[in-house]
Amino acid sequence: MKIAFAGPGLPDNGTVVVFASLGRGLAPTAKKLDAKTKGVLSKALSSGQFSGKKAQVLSLIAPRGTKLEQILLVGLGKPDALDELSLAQVGAKIYVELAHAKTVTVIVDAIEKAKWSPAEMAAEIGNGLRLHSYRFDKYRTKLAKEDKPTFGQVRILCDGFAKARTLYAPKDKVADGVFFTRDLVSEPPNVLYPETLAQQAQTLKELGVKVEVLGVAEMKKLGLNALLGVGQGSARESKMAILQWNGAGKSTEGPLAFIGKGVTFDTGGISIKPSAGMQDMKWDMGGAGAVLGLMKALAGRKARVNAVGAVGLVENMPDGNAQRPGDIVKSLSGQTIEIQNTDAEGRLVLADVLWYTKERFKPRFMIDLATLTGAILIALGHEMAGMFSNDDALCEQLSKAGNIVGEKVWRMPVSDDYDKIINSDIADMKNIGDRGAGSITAAQFLKRFVGTTPWVHLDIAGMAWSDKARPPVPKGGTGFGVRLLERFIADHYEEKA
Ligand code: BES
Ligand code: MN
Ligand code: ZN
Repeated sequence: MKIAFAGPGLPDNGTVVVFASLGRGLAPTAKKLDAKTKGVLSKALSSGQFSGKKAQVLSLIAPRGTKLEQILLVGLGKPDALDELSLAQVGAKIYVELAHAKTVTVIVDAIEKAKWSPAEMAAEIGNGLRLHSYRFDKYRTKLAKEDKPTFGQVRILCDGFAKARTLYAPKDKVADGVFFTRDLVSEPPNVLYPETLAQQAQTLKELGVKVEVLGVAEMKKLGLNALLGVGQGSARESKMAILQWNGAGKSTEGPLAFIGKGVTFDTGGISIKPSAGMQDMKWDMGGAGAVLGLMKALAGRKARVNAVGAVGLVENMPDGNAQRPGDIVKSLSGQTIEIQNTDAEGRLVLADVLWYTKERFKPRFMIDLATLTGAILIALGHEMAGMFSNDDALCEQLSKAGNIVGEKVWRMPVSDDYDKIINSDIADMKNIGDRGAGSITAAQFLKRFVGTTPWVHLDIAGMAWSDKARPPVPKGGTGFGVRLLERFIADHYEEKA
């Protein structure tokens, strides 16, 4: 989907989108069209058919008095309550309504009482429209023509369109990153496995990202035995990919580091999962997918920041060679782990990748993303990711960024009370806790591998996939984390131009 911006005007064919707001009625261009259509739009408002509340729509097909094919009137809600997310939702709604239209022109006028200029609104609406336009239908060979979206371009007309273009350009790159993550998360596990996921990481070289991929031999040599134990029952070779984007050039401070759980399929291993719903475990690489999408977004928009992305890529399978409950592994950190449940594998992968990243890069902070526990789904559902941290300032910044872009996080505790639950009688720790507090004990486990580095763990098990659309996020792979972290970086860690 291409979004193009141009100066104000009124096209004389195709579909035109105009706006109304709560309490302020029709926007100027909507008023013009109202006059041409003998007052149909104002009638809808005065009769109570249409109030102008957020993302409400009224569609006129081939209105008389114009050569247009369709007029779509869209509500903006209360002008003084307009924010980034609601504008993106309005854009998403336009996509949903018009996916089958041919030429679409959106006309963004100045809105009384709004804090946003037309150019700013145009950029946010365009962003929501593009974000919602994502589809993953490459494997659908029999999709009927009428089920495929028809328009590949939208024109948005507004005052200050050059500014709209400038504001939109980086958002378009971030959306590329989000789409990359969604693609990775959606791919089936026979196509996307550690090696092919690492190949996908390599494609970011085109954008100037440095990419290294380690295989089993290299990781054995280094001692990433916790990660390797998870993958040892798989016919697919385990990998670790390390990406570096150096957009800030030489900096005295360490880079920002993002670590992702990349379990390309999680059967549970010998502690095998029930078969119902197991297909969902193809997106157990959602954390790694988000890290790769983030790196793509940062490189795409040439962010002035130094960032490292490190992803542990494994497939968790039962097999004659698979890890057993009872095994003890020595992690890269030197700490030993008693495996009590081979389905608690994500933390084993992350333990080694966190330690590796900390030792090699001495990062300013580490943020990991992982579809780590079913328990976080019980606690927070599909509304917020769980956030665990040893650093209040990072949590504050992430919460704010999440609220702005609509990728919300909720802080959960870490403390010594929970830490002691994972002590083992026979090794330094075990990989599961008791019945309760499953997400917290998982976080405590990770915390044992971050030392004193400021660290945040985001448990995104409830967020990486969605069975229903939540505009501007269509159903399926959500790309959760990319926009959250991109905004967090832009607001706090990017050098000024
Ligand atoms: N990948 C799962 C967590 C998960 C569950 C993600 C549902 C998305 C949806 C993880 O590896 C896992 O199996 N966790 C276990 C941990 C338990 C064995 C301590 C869980 O949550 O049941
Ligand atoms: Mn598991
Ligand atoms: Zn898992």
